[in-house]
Amino acid sequence: MPTFPVRTPSASYDAIVERGALAQLKAHIPPRAGRVFAVSTPDVWQLYRERFTAAMGGREFDVIEFAGGEERKRMSEVEVMAEAMLARGADRSSLVIGFGGGITTDLAGFLAAIFMRGVPVIQIPTTLLAQVDAGVGGKTGANLVSGKNLIGAFHQPLVVLTDPDLLATLPAREYVAGLFEVLKSGIIRSPELFRVFVERPASLLRREAAPLEFAIAESVRIKCEVVSADEKEGGLRRILNFGHTVGHAIEAETAYKRYLHGEAVALGMKAAIHISHLTGRLPADLAADMLTAIDACGAVPSAADLSVANLCARLAQDKKTLQGSVHFVLTSGPGETEVVSGLPLEVVREAVATAIQ
Ligand code: GLY
Repeated sequence: MPTFPVRTPSASYDAIVERGALAQLKAHIPPRAGRVFAVSTPDVWQLYRERFTAAMGGREFDVIEFAGGEERKRMSEVEVMAEAMLARGADRSSLVIGFGGGITTDLAGFLAAIFMRGVPVIQIPTTLLAQVDAGVGGKTGANLVSGKNLIGAFHQPLVVLTDPDLLATLPAREYVAGLFEVLKSGIIRSPELFRVFVERPASLLRREAAPLEFAIAESVRIKCEVVSADEKEGGLRRILNFGHTVGHAIEAETAYKRYLHGEAVALGMKAAIHISHLTGRLPADLAADMLTAIDACGAVPSAADLSVANLCARLAQDKKTLQGSVHFVLTSGPGETEVVSGLPLEVVREAVATAIQ
């Protein structure tokens, strides 16, 4: 059973990656936990209610369903959920379980972080993107009108149960969006994972068991290692934002409606690859391999109509901007990254323009 430890100053826990991991749920509920609240969306709950209930092995629990979607990832939803918990007898001994995609795990984690100043959370991510990124590492939050994830808290889970079996029902578009984040993990920290995208992309697209399990486990391993080294994103954790600087600008410019997060990150990674090449860090052949690997995962909605000037203006508003300076994670080859600021605007403009063609 691939188990990856996260060891941070605030918590120690494991991310378990295994087919059927959901079935272990009851064993991970602390014996002294009070009422258990599963936070999920109707689509996930309809598909997996029976499996989840069986995994609870007769232990009583409540379900809090919310409609899902980026526009409902709001503080007001967290309040509604907290009121629902109270109405059903929650107290400081309660436990929250996030059971869904990244929006669910972020919101459930945030609910747990602030309910009565903090109750524990178990994360069971059900989308590829949440399994390899959002569900691990303790970032939780909600959106403001002004932007994504602008309020939130670091709240590490008790355990992350990553069950690749749950991906069987994931719609193709969401699966591909998750693959882009897996590819990101390969580019930033695992030449071996990157090679799977170069040599056998079709096997990943077919969701073949062996390469997919390797890809998930390797991404989770990387995430756990990075979070253990830098829980609060003071340094190393920033490499996980490869492709996110421009990706976030694209999501904001399209009002979070046109792209799934992973799709916007795919375009953002293209921009980061172009900048890496234009600034002399990344040789042309490696840049071409990376761009081909992105395209091999699948197409994303066209961005050709977006204004490069608007996107560049939005870069400065990103929450990753530090003291007014836009930071990019750049690469000089698979497994090699560097966080760079103060890049010439013309280079950024050219890279963004090429990436969205
Ligand atoms: N998704 C980036 C991080 O968890 O740091």
